[in-house]
Amino acid sequence: MSRISEATAIAHPNIALAKYWGKKPIPGNYPAVPSLSVTLDGMMTRTVVRFDSSLEVDRVVLNGTEAAQSDRAHLRVVELLDRVRALAGDTRRAFVQSANDFPTASGLASSASGFAALALAAVRAIPGLDASLEQVSDLARQSSASAARSLFDGFVELEPERPARSIAPPEHIDLHILVCVVTEEKKSIGSTSGMQTTALLSPYFDSWLSTAPVIFSSMKEALAARDWEALGELSEKSALAMHACAMAGGIVYVRGISLDLFAAVRGLRASGILAYFTADAGPHVKVLVRDGDVARATDVLSKVPGVLRVLDTRPGKGATVIASSP
Ligand code: PMV
Repeated sequence: MSRISEATAIAHPNIALAKYWGKKPIPGNYPAVPSLSVTLDGMMTRTVVRFDSSLEVDRVVLNGTEAAQSDRAHLRVVELLDRVRALAGDTRRAFVQSANDFPTASGLASSASGFAALALAAVRAIPGLDASLEQVSDLARQSSASAARSLFDGFVELEPERPARSIAPPEHIDLHILVCVVTEEKKSIGSTSGMQTTALLSPYFDSWLSTAPVIFSSMKEALAARDWEALGELSEKSALAMHACAMAGGIVYVRGISLDLFAAVRGLRASGILAYFTADAGPHVKVLVRDGDVARATDVLSKVPGVLRVLDTRPGKGATVIASSP
């Protein structure tokens, strides 16, 4: 008789306000610089992991389509499962089913929510494997460093070679993040290779390595003091420094529409609405606003030509298990 056990977990993307970019030159996929993120309510990955002793290979279904064994996405899932199997001393293969309710691999942090949900579901699908949330986060980090942060609630810090941790709950500060979706396409350069190229070719990489920790520390202070303007200004500064550094190495994620959105955000500010932008490894732009400004900002941003839609998200909860058996 086959031995089966399974768990279902949900996780949300997170957006780094103080970004990491670049890895430590040591094994373990550690970020080179500290980062501070906010876990988002309003977008979700749901992942089921079923370990089954009758399976001969791992099977992975992503957004309704089974991945070929040779797909990079399949390999990355298997790598994480292998780490969980090694920890548990369990050799069973798994059936994994994962789906996002937002575009995948286009710079909307789908790898963060994806690997956070996968790590949590895989660990909790093995009865008796008593791993802490820090250990689950550590497993997720080895697949995608930003995923380490999605396990936790609200505002989360990730320092190189330390476990990620929540430093403020979701309701700590009045914040909405408006996600301006500009394409459904996958990004052309993944973050891992974008970081490798930046580290090798960008003449600004060393100055990024010394600047990012300073932005991170100032942002932690701004967050603790609930200094909204300083938080917003530092978010823009971090995003622009990261993109400038990557661009100087030949890695361009922003498009014309991203720059139009940056200008629209600064236009909102000139008209008295406190709004600040950030952008990750893709062309989408995320805009920080306060509760009372959501309607006006959404109206302005959704009228920028090329914007497909504007999603209103708020700081939210980390990853959770929603079902498990036995
Ligand atoms: O950890 P990755 O491979 O998902 O890279 C994340 C990179 C950024 O989103 C641009 C920055 C960050 O800190 O999340």
